[in-house]
Order: sequence, then structure tokens, then C-alpha cells
Amino acid sequence: MLNSDLTYNPEHLLQIAVQARKNACCRYSGFAVGAALITESGVIYTGCNIENKSYPVGICAERVAFSKAISDGHRKFKAIAIAGAPEQQTPEKPCYPCGMCRQFISEFCDDEFQIILSDKIYTLQELFPLKFEI
Ligand code: THU
Repeated sequence: MLNSDLTYNPEHLLQIAVQARKNACCRYSGFAVGAALITESGVIYTGCNIENKSYPVGICAERVAFSKAISDGHRKFKAIAIAGAPEQQTPEKPCYPCGMCRQFISEFCDDEFQIILSDKIYTLQELFPLKFEI
């Protein structure tokens, strides 16, 4: 176990992220990412990166998972697991969320929100301190 004092199973969530990664549309970068987001009420949403021939149109796995959950009405979240690696490889190294995803997550999650990577569980506070505030 990465951490035993939790109301969800982080290893299970990471496995779901690894599965979700199989749906990645990453023909331009060749880098496949999967995400599994668990809401406060325990519902799990998955996401994968979806690239586009107009490169900036592409979207990251994390924001796909959040967008699915938010558009279903969820507003409170416990954790997200992220798994990313070149398409033909098994994800082993941690896949840190990009800056745009950190900003996106910070709109909906507090400092204690958990970001589960292959090496450890980070808090949003650790990965995105001193966030932009209006
Ligand atoms: N990517 C994600 O899905 N999440 C991240 O946090 C970082 C990057 C995707 C975007 C693009 O499709 C590919 O990985 C390479 O940058």
C-alpha cells in the first residue's frame, strides 16, 4: 500500500488509470496518459489524453476525467491517479501533471487533494503551491 490511512485504495485507482491509458489518442506525441479521478462520494471517472492534428486542441487525461465528472454535477474530489509513458512502454516512472492541469485542478480542489503517481501520493499543495488567486 502507498498509504493505508485513506478512504479509497490508491493502488486500485492507479490500476484504473493504467487501464484508461489504453484509450489514449496520442498519434502525434506517442505518449499515452490515463487518469482515474475519485469524487467525494466515491464515484470514479477515467480520462485519457486526446490529441488533435491541430496540436493545441489536444487535451490531457486529467482534464478529460475532471470534465466528465464536473459535467455530471460533481464538485468535490478526493484524489486522482495518473499513469503516463511512451505508448509502447509500461508506465513506471511518475507522470507529473502539466502546469495547465495543476491550474485546472486547483479551481476545484483544496490543498489536501491527493495526486497518486507511481512513486508516491502527493498533495495538490506540494505540486502547486502559491496558486493564482483573484
Ligand atoms: N499529457 C497528459 O495527458 N497529462 C499531463 O499532465 C501531461 C501531458 C499528454 C498531453 C499530450 O497528449 C501528451 O501527454 C504529450 O505531451
